[in-house]
Amino acid sequence: MFIVFEGIDGSGKTTLAKLLFETFQKRGIKVFLTREPYDKNLRKTVLDRDLNPWGETFIFLGDRNLHVRELIKPKLEEGFTVISDRFYLSTLAYQGFGRSLDLELLKELNIKAIEGLKPDITFLLDIDADTALERISKSRNTLERFEKKDFLNKVREGFLKLAKEENNVVILDAKKHIYQLLGEVLSHIDNYFRKNLL
Ligand code: TYD
Repeated sequence: MFIVFEGIDGSGKTTLAKLLFETFQKRGIKVFLTREPYDKNLRKTVLDRDLNPWGETFIFLGDRNLHVRELIKPKLEEGFTVISDRFYLSTLAYQGFGRSLDLELLKELNIKAIEGLKPDITFLLDIDADTALERISKSRNTLERFEKKDFLNKVREGFLKLAKEENNVVILDAKKHIYQLLGEVLSHIDNYFRKNLL
């Protein structure tokens, strides 16, 4: 099973992905936790260098293709449940809605990058940009390339629109307590198993 967490910076998706990973481990499930950007050098390139929005997109898509080929597909084939912190919706929300690039073209390119590998279930942690930025400023001193209020609001709206168009996306209220969110995630996964696998 392939599970993805999405949301704007500061939404808490990394913490929740980790908590789900630990919960599965405790239950004896073969599970692997991963994230995007996947390749450390590509992550540094996209965050620190002077790219235009398409240049930025090409790096994220190349990085995703490596992620799928080198890690996600092999792990799924070995029978692992894979949990990824970010995947293809991030590019549509950040580069499509945040940077205003042509969404249809982005979708076409993104499909090539993922080689048809869609998540079984995606959890979107929805939160307003003010609360997200407040959380980020408590945990770090510097704001990265994408962490600006107007930009993050556009990205948030993008995620919400995409969640309604795509299959298997569950929207969660990221302001809820982390253990309540974990409970909701687990019950959605149970439902998914009941509907699709039993
Ligand atoms: P992030 O998950 O925030 O990494 P970290 O926790 O190490 O800071 O990802 C880095 C940034 O990249 C984040 O602001 C979102 C952005 N991003 C895109 O704009 N498009 C994408 O396709 C992906 C995967 C990430």
